[in-house]
Amino acid sequence: MLIAIDGPAGAGKSTVARAVADALGFTYLDSGAMYRCVALAELRGTADPLAGEIEFRGGRVKLAGEDVTDEIRTPEVSARASEVAARPEVRRHLVALQREMIRQGDYVAEGRDIGTVVAPDAELKVFLTASPQERAQRRAAQTGADPAQVLAEQLERDERDCTRAHSPLQPADDALQVDTTGLSVDAVVDRIAQLVQAVR
Ligand code: DC
Repeated sequence: MLIAIDGPAGAGKSTVARAVADALGFTYLDSGAMYRCVALAELRGTADPLAGEIEFRGGRVKLAGEDVTDEIRTPEVSARASEVAARPEVRRHLVALQREMIRQGDYVAEGRDIGTVVAPDAELKVFLTASPQERAQRRAAQTGADPAQVLAEQLERDERDCTRAHSPLQPADDALQVDTTGLSVDAVVDRIAQLVQAVR
């Protein structure tokens, strides 16, 4: 079974997808981390940024054998990830890897195009949203950055993610939208658990 959770930055996808995966005993796939790995490889000047093997193990992310879990979360990598994610050859490569992974069991996969491109036949598609202000607040609280600056950067990334020619961020026609503004993580996870029960 596959549960697709898509939505913009800061909507709560990672926290919620991880919690839903734990609750159901499914594997969690963070597709954004894969775009971040390609971005990091580019920033480092790696000869072939798509060649490094990306592995998820025990909540850590490895690129070509190196633990890059923390390094892929810097603002510099975030900005570059949004750029590399607009390139068709990068998307083709990573979508193929993601399809390969989710074939191998029950997954909660999180990203921007899981329900539309990676797995249009997912049993459940959730599109998480939240107000831009709340999304920026959450990200700022995680990183200790200035909320106003986070909001400005986030709006720029959202604009690029939503308007790119290839797989722009948009809900699948059959996605169920869940607005997490003002909701606790537990409340969102409960809501999704109910949706899972309904399709099981
Ligand atoms: O979810 P995130 O912030 O880690 O994603 C990093 C970047 O990758 C973000 O700009 C959107 C892009 N992305 C994408 O285009 N498609 C995905 N399935 C996941 C992320």
